[in-house]
Parts: sequence; structure tokens; C-alpha cells
Amino acid sequence: MSQLKCIIRGVGSYLPEETLTNSDLARIVDTSDEWIVERTGIRERHRAAPGEFTSDLATKAALAALKDAGLQPDDIDLIVLATATPDNTFPASAVQVQANLGIRHGFAFDLHAVCSGFVYALTTADAQLKAGLAKRALVIGAETFTRILDWTDRGTCVLFGDGAGAVVLEAVDADSHGERGIITSHLRSDGRHKAKLYVDGGPSTTQTTGHLRMEGREVFKHAVGMITDVIEASFAATGTTAADIDWFVPHQANRRIIDASVKKLGIAPEKVVVTVDVHGNTSAASIPLALSVAKADGRIQPNDLILLEAMGGGFTWGAVMLRW
Ligand code: UT7
Repeated sequence: MSQLKCIIRGVGSYLPEETLTNSDLARIVDTSDEWIVERTGIRERHRAAPGEFTSDLATKAALAALKDAGLQPDDIDLIVLATATPDNTFPASAVQVQANLGIRHGFAFDLHAVCSGFVYALTTADAQLKAGLAKRALVIGAETFTRILDWTDRGTCVLFGDGAGAVVLEAVDADSHGERGIITSHLRSDGRHKAKLYVDGGPSTTQTTGHLRMEGREVFKHAVGMITDVIEASFAATGTTAADIDWFVPHQANRRIIDASVKKLGIAPEKVVVTVDVHGNTSAASIPLALSVAKADGRIQPNDLILLEAMGGGFTWGAVMLRW
């Protein structure tokens, strides 16, 4: 059997209609537009409507990605949905997306790595397609984090938003499509940091959904080091440097974390895709949302070298390098 590699065929996203500005939040908790912008770079975020679920957001992003790829739902035989805010404890929200899309073949599952979910999901789908388990995957990041926020905690409720992004990944002959495709992935986790960013509920512990809890300063302290760890591993594995990258698409948690990472890695600021100002932190959805924005506005072009990176709860972190 010939060697396979995976290329991205299309990208799409969906944001719920309602936006919440910093001023809206200042009416709920003791905060200000000035504080939020200065500490995070966030100006607004989206919130899912009552009755609008993670699987609904994911389905809309998936349809947009399929359209961009010029494909139909039936062309898909794997769905990997990265989410920490599933519709239900089980079944996986991915199977709801599969049903919404009318797909009756292949397989679908959720992947849970919080903010690193999309790089984990892309790496997992890449491995499964290369192993011949499926031919074309929808890799989706979708979240309704506003449902797990404590709206009395100003330290967390101003940071997160809802949304979804998706890519269509396709297995092709490794000798085809020039240099295009996923080139290298580096995933890490360290469970000793669980208490710094977690949800204080769950089926096995409290039998409730719980709320997000975070020691923000502690997470911040670890973030830049972990991000540079996996990016330097990506450079080392491929013999590339920051100068070779066309677009750096980081997880969108905080503008200051992005700026510090970019400075430490020597990536030119004009190569960085930033959407945290208008999306907030959408956890697993943030990278595919940012990819979708940069593709739609013409920044990302075929054959561009792209570096994705994320860090979040667990801690988990990871990077994926690919040629678009
Ligand atoms: O997705 C991956 C995981 N998440 C992250 O990457 C987030 C990482 N952490 C951060 O982004 C930042 O730590 C935060 C944005 C969460 C906080 O920024 P900070 O500069 O680390 O502030 P801090 O937590 O040290 O708080 C500084 C002050 C405190 O007041 P005192 O104790 O100095 O009087 C907080 O009570 O700011 C206060 N504060 C606020 N003030 C106004 C905290 N939240 C707010 C708020 N509005 N929303």
C-alpha cells in the first residue's frame, strides 16, 4: 500500500448571533472595558442562544467547511469533535453532528483536551486517516463555554465565548499535492496542573455540570514556556525556523500570551492571526475559527506554511505544522 498524508480541503466556522461587549459584562460584574482590553485584548465575544447547543454550532461550522471544500456530507467517514462542553455527558456530541448531517456510515467521536482540543483532534484524525481507518474527516472544535461560567466571578466570566470551527481533512497519496499537508505534530500533557484550570463538577464527582475555575496568573506563568516547547520541537523536527512560517495561528486565550510567545519565538508580528479581540477565548474552537477568518479574508493561500499551537486545561498543550 502506498504511503498516505493528509491535506486540508476546506475550512468553515460559525458564531452565534448574540455578541456580548465588555460594557455588557460591566453591567453584570465589577469590571471595565479598560481592564479587560488591557489585560486580555478581548473586546467582545459571542453567546449561544437558549436552546442552541454545541452540536448545533459544530454542525453549522461543518457545513461551512464542506461548502468550502466543495464536498457533501456523504463524502465524510470520520468526525472528530473537540469539545469540553458537549450537549450531554453521553453520547458524544459528534454523533449528533453525524445525525444532523445525515451521515449513516463511518464513525464519530468527541475528543476532550479543553483549549488544546483542536490540535489534539487534528493530530488524531491525521493518524487515523493515515492508518487507513477512514478517507475524509471533519475535524471540529466547538464550544458553549458561556454555559459553564460562573457569572459572579469576574476573573473568568469576561474571558470566554462560544463558537465553532471545522476543517475537512483528506487522506491522499503522499507523493501527490506537492508539499501540501500536515507535516508534524507535537502533543503534551501534565496532569499535575489540574487544579489550576478545571470545572468543579462532573458526573462522577458531583453529579452536576459545575463551573469553570482558574488560577489565571498561574496558567499565564506556564503558558509561554509550554507554547515555545512544542513550537521549538516542530522547528527541530522539520529543520524550519520562525522565518519560514507564513502564518502563526495560536490558540486565542489572551493577547498578552500571544504577544509574549511571538516575541520569544522570533515570529514576525504581521504573520500572527489574532481573533481574541472579537471571539474571546472559545477553547477548542479558537484555532479553526481563526483559520476560517484568515482564509476568508485572503491571508491564507494554498501552499502557505502554517503553525498552530494551543495550551489549556490539564495542562495540555501542542503544536501542528502544516502546508495549506
Ligand atoms: O485557554 C487557556 C487557559 N487560560 C488562559 O490562558 C488564561 C491565562 N491567564 C490570564 O489570561 C490572566 O491571568 C487573566 C486575564 C485571567 C488575569 O490577568 P492578570 O494580569 O493575571 O490579573 P490577576 O488575576 O493577577 O488580577 C489582578 C487584579 C486583581 O485585583 P487585586 O487583587 O490586584 O486587587 C483581580 O481581582 O485584577 C482583578 N481582576 C479584575 N479587575 C477587573 C480580575 N479580574 C478582573 C476583571 N475586572 N474582570
